Amino acid sequence: MNLIFLGAPGAGKGTQAEVVTKKLNIPAISTGNILREAVKNGTAQGIEAKKYMDSGELVPDEVVIGILKDRISQDDCKKGFVLDGFPRTVAQAEALENMGIKIDKVVEIYVSDEDIIERLSGRRVSEISGVSYHIKYKPPKVEGICDVTGEKLIQRDDDKPETVLHRLKTYHEKTAPLKDFYQKQGKLVTVIGQEKVADTTKLTFEAIGI
Ligand code: AP5
Repeated sequence: MNLIFLGAPGAGKGTQAEVVTKKLNIPAISTGNILREAVKNGTAQGIEAKKYMDSGELVPDEVVIGILKDRISQDDCKKGFVLDGFPRTVAQAEALENMGIKIDKVVEIYVSDEDIIERLSGRRVSEISGVSYHIKYKPPKVEGICDVTGEKLIQRDDDKPETVLHRLKTYHEKTAPLKDFYQKQGKLVTVIGQEKVADTTKLTFEAIGI
């Protein structure tokens, strides 16, 4: 099954992608995680991308499309995948079509802007595993420590309040039009994000039909 998870920053795409991919035994492809890895490794691509990410802007289409093309051509994607954070512009969605990739469903996770701000201010992440937690809604077993790697959790640079507001604005202007794009193709299903992660998971499974 080839799925896209669409939604505002912090809507819970990564959190739901983690459970869905475990259940279906397919990989999650997060362009955000790939870009953060490039930033951490100090590659030329990472240095260039960091400017956009830190200010809450989208990284240019040609860069992200190139990254996606490389990742999706790998063997583990042959039996399906979940795209988390791609496409984010109509140009990226068209590029996916031009690659000949058939998408089965696009799951929009809807959360109000007000709740997004609360979620992102409490998010803590593991730099190594990429797993994300929330100090109130999804706490790790030991405060401040990743359950998987045992490392200290950090707050993402782009989760600062002023950057979050800009990311939301970017989402509404550039990414939200994709809802219409996929609605016209009859592929869009909307899940209303719930306060409990498990409740959103239940609705997500129902929306996908798994
Ligand atoms: P990216 O990493 O994709 O960030 P994003 O889309 O802004 O999404 P997030 O990862 O912030 O949130 P999420 O929806 O996955 O939420 P999560 O599950 O963590 O992109 C970062 C940057 O990279 C972009 O700004 C851009 O610059 C660049 N980029 C990436 N892809 C690009 C592309 N295709 N084109 C151009 N540029 C690109 O959940 C958030 C928090 O809420 C967590 O703490 C979680 O524990 C908690 N939570 C989750 N679900 C619930 C729930 N039901 N109830 C309560 N809390 C919950």
